[in-house]
Amino acid sequence: MTDTPSAREIQRAVVDTYGARARAVLASAGAPPTADACCAPASAEDAAAGACCSPAASMTAASAAQPMSVSFQAAAASAPTADESCCGPDCCDGSAQAASEGNPAAGQQFGAALYEATDVSALPESVVAASAGCGNPLAIAALRPGERVLDLGSGGGIDCFLAARQVGEAGEVWGLDMTPDMVALARHNAGEVGLENVRFRLGEIEDIPFEEGRFDVIMSNCVINLSADKPRVFREAFRVLAAGGRLGVSDMVQVGELSEGQRASLDQWAGCIAGALPLEDYLDAIRAAGFVQVEAQHEATAPGVVSAYLTARKA
Ligand SMILES: C[S@@+](CC[C@H](N)C(=O)[O-])C[C@H]1O[C@@H](n2cnc3c(N)ncnc32)[C@H](O)[C@@H]1O
Repeated sequence: MTDTPSAREIQRAVVDTYGARARAVLASAGAPPTADACCAPASAEDAAAGACCSPAASMTAASAAQPMSVSFQAAAASAPTADESCCGPDCCDGSAQAASEGNPAAGQQFGAALYEATDVSALPESVVAASAGCGNPLAIAALRPGERVLDLGSGGGIDCFLAARQVGEAGEVWGLDMTPDMVALARHNAGEVGLENVRFRLGEIEDIPFEEGRFDVIMSNCVINLSADKPRVFREAFRVLAAGGRLGVSDMVQVGELSEGQRASLDQWAGCIAGALPLEDYLDAIRAAGFVQVEAQHEATAPGVVSAYLTARKA
């Protein structure tokens, strides 16, 4: 019998994979290496929350007990190389994945191709290049001017920038991501986009560094499947939503069987396959956190791992 990787191993694989991706995009944008760019909190609120790009700040108290900092520091300090340009079979957007034989996510679309051309054409290349989602959460978020939005696993920030336009100056958007290089890339991108109402914070979606009731809308794009503790993610999302707040998620769900080998593979975890839950289990986890009006839309054309939209509300 093959063992499922530990939460710690999964987290390390995800940070390594998406850190490499972020560094490659930053390098092609001509930005300085992230080791320097990443070491100060971006705002007073970040500083108060202890959020910084140091390895320790990106870990929960439990995970900080493990020797992960070596991996984080090595990732932050190493220069990008041609073969880090992502994506191989271990990233969420993969043409390489889609092409590989027996890939349960074959035929899925990932990244910037999922958006209206007019939405992405106004965004800098470094935003579009980093896009690694499996849907377009803006399509289900129905954002209104003035709303406060949190994006779980914001990556290079594409959904945050699109949301920031929709909520306008009276609203605000925060992106949360546990990969230091991704946060550095998103902050670089924010400077390029030039919007004042969008900010990025380093942290884990299992331990959201914001106070109760802080947001009107939580969105997420191809991220929660990467968590080893999905019930905790939904409990945290519920906590930081205001009463009446909305959850709008695009994510990979499982239709059919995954092999033991796939479940045990860290590449398949980082590639948004091994961590995908069956749709009913996903919906149950959202309900168990206290959400109501829990609904899903997905089009399963073949068994495997498919993209779905999930929506819910905090009463
Ligand atoms: C597939 S990418 C999607 C990025 C972005 N949502 C998009 O659509 O381009 C997954 C992102 O989620 C982040 N992530 C994965 N698990 C996380 C966790 N437990 N806490 C915070 N961020 C996480 C990764 O660092 C990565 O940037």
